[in-house]
Amino acid sequence: MQLQNVFIAAAGLFQLSAAADNVQAFQKVEFSNVGFTGSYTPVTSIKNPDTDKCSCSVGSKDWFSGSSAPISEAVSVHFRGPLKLNKFAFYNASSFTVGNTDNSSSWNRVAYFDASSQTGENVTFLTKAGTDSPVLGQALTFAGSDGVSSSKTAAYLANDNLIKSDQEYTIFSNVSCPKSSTKNSCGVYRKGIPAFHGFEADTKMFLFDFEMPTETQNNGSSFKYYDMPAIWLLNDQIPRTSQYPTNANCSCWASGCGEFDIFEVMNGTERNHLYSTFHTFQGIEDLGTGIQAGGYISRNTSGSMQGGVVFDSTGNTVVFVSNNTSFDQTISADTLNNLLSSYNQDESYSTKLATISATAPSTTSKSNAYALFEKGPGKLWFYAFTFLTSVAHTVLF
Ligand SMILES: *[C@@H]1O[C@H](CO)[C@@H](O)[C@H](O)[C@H]1NC(C)=O
Ligand SMILES: *[C@@H]1O[C@H](CO)[C@@H](O)[C@H](O)[C@H]1NC(C)=O
Ligand SMILES: *[C@@H]1O[C@H](CO)[C@@H](O)[C@H](O)[C@H]1NC(C)=O
Ligand SMILES: *[C@@H]1O[C@H](CO)[C@@H](O)[C@H](O)[C@H]1NC(C)=O
Ligand SMILES: *[C@@H]1O[C@H](CO)[C@@H](O)[C@H](O)[C@H]1NC(C)=O
Ligand SMILES: *[C@@H]1O[C@H](CO)[C@@H](O)[C@H](O)[C@H]1NC(C)=O
Ligand SMILES: *[C@@H]1O[C@H](CO)[C@@H](O)[C@H](O)[C@H]1NC(C)=O
Ligand SMILES: *[C@@H]1O[C@H](CO)[C@@H](O)[C@H](O)[C@H]1NC(C)=O
Ligand SMILES: *[C@@H]1O[C@H](CO)[C@@H](O)[C@H](O)[C@H]1NC(C)=O
Ligand SMILES: *[C@@H]1O[C@H](CO)[C@@H](O)[C@H](O)[C@H]1NC(C)=O
Repeated sequence: MQLQNVFIAAAGLFQLSAAADNVQAFQKVEFSNVGFTGSYTPVTSIKNPDTDKCSCSVGSKDWFSGSSAPISEAVSVHFRGPLKLNKFAFYNASSFTVGNTDNSSSWNRVAYFDASSQTGENVTFLTKAGTDSPVLGQALTFAGSDGVSSSKTAAYLANDNLIKSDQEYTIFSNVSCPKSSTKNSCGVYRKGIPAFHGFEADTKMFLFDFEMPTETQNNGSSFKYYDMPAIWLLNDQIPRTSQYPTNANCSCWASGCGEFDIFEVMNGTERNHLYSTFHTFQGIEDLGTGIQAGGYISRNTSGSMQGGVVFDSTGNTVVFVSNNTSFDQTISADTLNNLLSSYNQDESYSTKLATISATAPSTTSKSNAYALFEKGPGKLWFYAFTFLTSVAHTVLF
């Protein structure tokens, strides 16, 4: 544990360098070098879910690796008000490199929702309106057309679907989960919920047409997230067990199975700034703070915004807003790369995540980890740290 402090001190340095930066608005927020080899502990049992005796256990480590990992796993898409969703789309591609169309393929739309025409493909809207548990919070149910009431059957959001501060819903695919079991593809999940698979692809893109108007209710102590809208991705196992458990073992979140915040207001002081954050262990110790870009995208409170996030095949994650965003069935590599390259340098903010080279503890080979961290608009700050094998091992495993 002492050795971990060495790492925390190093991570602190990264943050100091970010604080020296002038935080400002951008149209595009990029991360490079995204994805690492790591592990998390999935939930293996949930006992007495609906009582205060509720307890959960976790299993042995599930390992992940590769580009975007662990966000390369299936994810659910989460929305918090004040927010109105006009369109949603999920795409996959067999290969895509930001900035290189030569070795990129086109994008296929795999899921879609359009509120104005009330059409949808491969989407299921769920919300936390089920049985309340002191440990797990409210269970998932199908969402009614308002996004937040409980429904007996799956429904689309109405066109008029503005949700308020603190209200949330989630989009999953329409592929049902098999029985809850450590051996099955959705793992163990909470009893009685409508359980669906999230969206899965190594190379993937989520697009949105949305509105985040200013909250019209007065602020008060009953709000947790007053006027703090957000759109984010979670490893889909998290909401199926518990999104906000009082016991950390009731979700794989705390062990690092993955969250990426695409557009998120962080506090009332910066209510019109949308930040992007990885909550993964790629070079940090404090998962709650996560790895946040030092620049934000402006929240338009008077009109709709279009944009989303691309996870390419080579470790680039790009969050963008553009009124040129297309929701077509197919989007060519050229179209997307042209859009992503149409921003000026001063409209783009880049962050390079830490390089973690590690091997699974089951092997006896030497593991050596070092971290590189660069951030800044145009100018890059650059820090490198080399750790002894033993230190890396303590921190990473
Ligand atoms: C994209 O998703 C569809 C539907 O799941 C699947 O058939 C196809 O193989 C996927 N393509 C890639 C490149 O992942
Ligand atoms: C595509 O080309 C770029 C630039 O040469 C390279 O970095 C990347 O690895 C290539 N991507 C794939 C999927 O081969
Ligand atoms: C899931 O969505 C696809 C695409 O819209 C559709 O073809 C299929 O019938 C749906 N399946 C279910 C079980 O609703
Ligand atoms: C719906 O999305 C899921 C998750 O990505 C995928 O497995 C499934 O093939 C998709 N269904 C269709 C009809 O494309
Ligand atoms: C979570 O599970 C681990 C491993 O089984 C155990 O050591 C720990 O005490 C549990 N934590 C809680 C809060 O129950
Ligand atoms: C609000 O959030 C931003 C982004 O995380 C942070 O830089 C700022 O310090 C926060 N402000 C307050 C008052 O907490
Ligand atoms: C709402 O109230 C909370 C708690 O007093 C405060 O932290 C927050 O900044 C307020 N939000 C706005 C937008 O004024
Ligand atoms: C916000 O959206 C409105 C309506 O589309 C547009 O007129 C306005 O220019 C946008 N504001 C900003 C700051 O982009
Ligand atoms: C589209 O976005 C660009 C750049 O942000 C802006 O200059 C332009 O006015 C927008 N066009 C429309 C039709 O909103
Ligand atoms: C939007 O499209 C117009 C015309 O095709 C182009 O001039 C502009 O650069 C594009 N803007 C963005 C942000 O993609």
